[in-house]
Amino acid sequence: MVETDIKTLLNKMTLDEKVDQLIQLATLFYKGAKFDGEITGPMSDLGITETVIQNSGSVLGASGAREVIDIQKTHLQDNRLQIPLLIMADIIHGFKTIFPIPLAIGCSWDIELAEKSAEIAAHEASVSGVHVTFAPMVDLVRDPRWGRVMESTGEDPYLNSVFARAFVKGFQGDDLTCDTTRVAACVKHFAAYGAPEGGRDYNTVDMSERQLRDIYLPAYKAALDEGCEMVMTAFNTVEGIPASGNKKLMRHLLRDEWEFNGVIISDWGAIKEIMPHGIAADASEAAFKGIEAGVDIDMMTSTYVNHLKQLVEEGVVKEGRIDESVLRILQLKEKLGLFENPYRGANEQLEKSVVLSEENRVVARELAAKSCVLLKNESILPLNNDKKIALIGPYANNDDILGPWSWKGKGEDAIKLIDGLRGKIKSDQLRVAKGCEINSLTEASVNEAIKAAEESDVIILALGESSNMSGEGNCRANIQLPTAQLNIINVLSELNKPIIAVLFNGRPLDLHGVSDKVEAVLEAWYPGTEGGAAIADILYGDVNPSGRLAMSFPYYVGQVPVYYNHYNTGRPLNPDHPEQEYVSKYIDIPNKPMYPFGYGLSYTTFKYANLQLSAETISPDEQLAVKVEIENTGLVTGDETVQLYVHDQVGEVVRPVKELKAFKKVTLEPGEKKEVTFSLTERDFRYYHVDLTYRSDQGRFTIYVGSNSEDVLEQTVELLHNN
Ligand code: BGC
Repeated sequence: MVETDIKTLLNKMTLDEKVDQLIQLATLFYKGAKFDGEITGPMSDLGITETVIQNSGSVLGASGAREVIDIQKTHLQDNRLQIPLLIMADIIHGFKTIFPIPLAIGCSWDIELAEKSAEIAAHEASVSGVHVTFAPMVDLVRDPRWGRVMESTGEDPYLNSVFARAFVKGFQGDDLTCDTTRVAACVKHFAAYGAPEGGRDYNTVDMSERQLRDIYLPAYKAALDEGCEMVMTAFNTVEGIPASGNKKLMRHLLRDEWEFNGVIISDWGAIKEIMPHGIAADASEAAFKGIEAGVDIDMMTSTYVNHLKQLVEEGVVKEGRIDESVLRILQLKEKLGLFENPYRGANEQLEKSVVLSEENRVVARELAAKSCVLLKNESILPLNNDKKIALIGPYANNDDILGPWSWKGKGEDAIKLIDGLRGKIKSDQLRVAKGCEINSLTEASVNEAIKAAEESDVIILALGESSNMSGEGNCRANIQLPTAQLNIINVLSELNKPIIAVLFNGRPLDLHGVSDKVEAVLEAWYPGTEGGAAIADILYGDVNPSGRLAMSFPYYVGQVPVYYNHYNTGRPLNPDHPEQEYVSKYIDIPNKPMYPFGYGLSYTTFKYANLQLSAETISPDEQLAVKVEIENTGLVTGDETVQLYVHDQVGEVVRPVKELKAFKKVTLEPGEKKEVTFSLTERDFRYYHVDLTYRSDQGRFTIYVGSNSEDVLEQTVELLHNN
């Protein structure tokens, strides 16, 4: 159907039908559907009629080819103009083949593989009937207390932007109309949902517009530049206005400035929540604020359907405004080919061969291994397979390793750590004991662990947070491992056996009582379906760890937010004189995080030398080549992530001490040396100035290159403007 036909269709729609197109309901409202999705918000007192359901435009949380075909078929029979439903769902880090959580994928710094994971997720979802995924979540995060840091790729605007593009490309491919193996992407949560005060979910966000633009907005923009079809609003306020009723954000920035023409959807219940936020006296005013701000779809409330018609009839909202939203929704349906084939990719046969295929699992295993970050290793890893192992801890034999937002993923399909180890060593070399639960222990469980440890050469301690300790609504003020687990570490560390801690968790933790008590720490995050196999690959050296932190691990929770790209302050602490008084520091802990952004160990070592710039000055039309030599000085082949940061020495406004601008992954054989070259231009030195223009300053910039945000070589260049 061509554009003119959609307009004809729009003209045939009654005002009621138009308004009803703007509601999104969960599957349980539809005939013949069961609901097994996440209920993340209020469901009660929706107050809608059967007619609204028949006229509704989209469904949340349906999947499974049979179910989707049934819902769509019944809907088309009941819908006067036979407008198909859009089927949307949260396919966040895999559909049934679950990849590591996004924060872990962020730590892979592997853009191609991230894209591939989204492509696979899209394929599995599309054969199961899904048209749109509520991903990627690109909220920049600095506070690990917030449960949803697990959904983000971390604390850096550049890295997040690169991943945002990769995910959108992976989900959508090049042509959504022809390629039914892909799904439309919906970037979320616009905007700055990742910066809630106190790290408490849904809490207030307030910051300068400069910071918003410099730090928080780039990843959303990157997703849209890649052609992302939809945007989801955030729950929080921005400049005192809830995002879902925020005209400046939606209409002025997204629509007018960024020229985004796709569909904007509210988050679950967010239009109605404009009321408790306190900028609407009743639901009618909330509907007014939402629609006027530019939000097209009202997810899971009846605010639009129950009030927009009257607002139009009273002349408060122009019908043209409703038409605009309906048209966008119809256009997306057309783009997805739903008017020609309302079932699109849904295919029961293909579902059997595509979903959770061996092929997909291979990619999940590779990405899980690349997402693990080796935080500490005192020459204990990799293990020889002749060592007797005591596998202890609540994650020793636990399939809760998929992480939050894994919806269709099933623990029973996952490879647990115990299964992974069984693939590497003979069964008589492995003793297994739980030692403790996530949050409790008994004398008997501790004794059993001690016995297993005493009979072994090495202890692998599999610890962590259960998956419901992170994710939406699950914030923690204490970000250490639960006391029971710290206790089991204490007991076992008395035995004088080497301990390798393998951690399963959704956020950077305060690792006091862990890193200081064990010989090695492997951060495995929630690694997904192939987790146990991937971790075993690392523990036994079949894969050399290459993950690098995408978010700093704080030294102590009282330090958060702690992030690498902070400002200097007027009284910076001189690291050589920590005793100095009246400088910006804590008197009881260091300023630095325990493990910085970009950090991660390998089984080999890399030496950086000869950082060279192609010129001492550059002008806006020139390129600056930055060269560095990297040598593998260890005994095994390894992948290094070479990171380039810049610092504007004198800005119009203060600039971060370092900003990631580029990175490259290189593989080096033992003894091999490679030269890595980056190219920078004036664009890489730009930022938002006081007048909100995006431009660079003349003057000196420090260029840093190294293996993480702290361990770097440096050189200086001067940027000369032509004027
Ligand atoms: C979450 C969104 C999600 C939506 C639909 C909300 O509670 O904040 O990220 O896409 O539910 O499930």
